[in-house]
Amino acid sequence: MQLDKLLQKHGFGTRRACRGLVRHERVAINGQICEDPFAEIDTNDLIFTVDGVDWPYAEFACLMLNKPAGYECSRKPLHHPSVLTLLPVQLRERDVQPIGRLDEDTTGLLLITDDGQLNHVLSSARRKVPKVYLATTKHSIEQAQVDQLLTGVLLNDEPEPICAAACEIAGEHLLRLTLTQGKYHQVKRMVAATGNRVEALHRESVGELSLPADLKSGEWRWLSTVDLQKLGYLS
Ligand code: URA
Repeated sequence: MQLDKLLQKHGFGTRRACRGLVRHERVAINGQICEDPFAEIDTNDLIFTVDGVDWPYAEFACLMLNKPAGYECSRKPLHHPSVLTLLPVQLRERDVQPIGRLDEDTTGLLLITDDGQLNHVLSSARRKVPKVYLATTKHSIEQAQVDQLLTGVLLNDEPEPICAAACEIAGEHLLRLTLTQGKYHQVKRMVAATGNRVEALHRESVGELSLPADLKSGEWRWLSTVDLQKLGYLS
């Protein structure tokens, strides 16, 4: 792929701006400065460098973020900054968007991509991708509440009772539950239907992919091939 085109695809501005970056010797290919914006670059396993920062060549941007509280998942947030402001501007330029939404005060694993197919596969109601949440509750948790969540609770605007795919007591005020649907405020509404209240909510995993212990709040990283396999996206 031609270098100026490659840089544009990765969010470094217009083709003209990208040519300027190259001519000013700010771009290296596999560690070597390249001054020719029209050079044909082999994109296989390519790492390119702009202003000393390494970027993998990525046909699509597929990322995970440890979402902090106080950020909205919308691209056009109303009251709080968008989670997308936690990403480098080059990724925002690629039109990435969160796969599904977490509430402003929910923390934990959020997937973000510009790959429409990945977004579709993981959001599809038919695929029933399990998502595990850890909810901190106002009142201590009773086994009866867990049983209710497993057998199903009736939510406003839902014709049928909704049940958790799995649910366990993880502490006096801690509930771990697995959902395979993605309805609005689903955990909070389900827990409220049992007479308790969610005071904090954290997403631990999506499919087989768990939030890495070393990914700090507000940090992001590229999804690896293994991560995509855990999401059932690559075989
Ligand atoms: N359920 C909720 O209530 N909120 C979230 O952010 C995610 C699931």
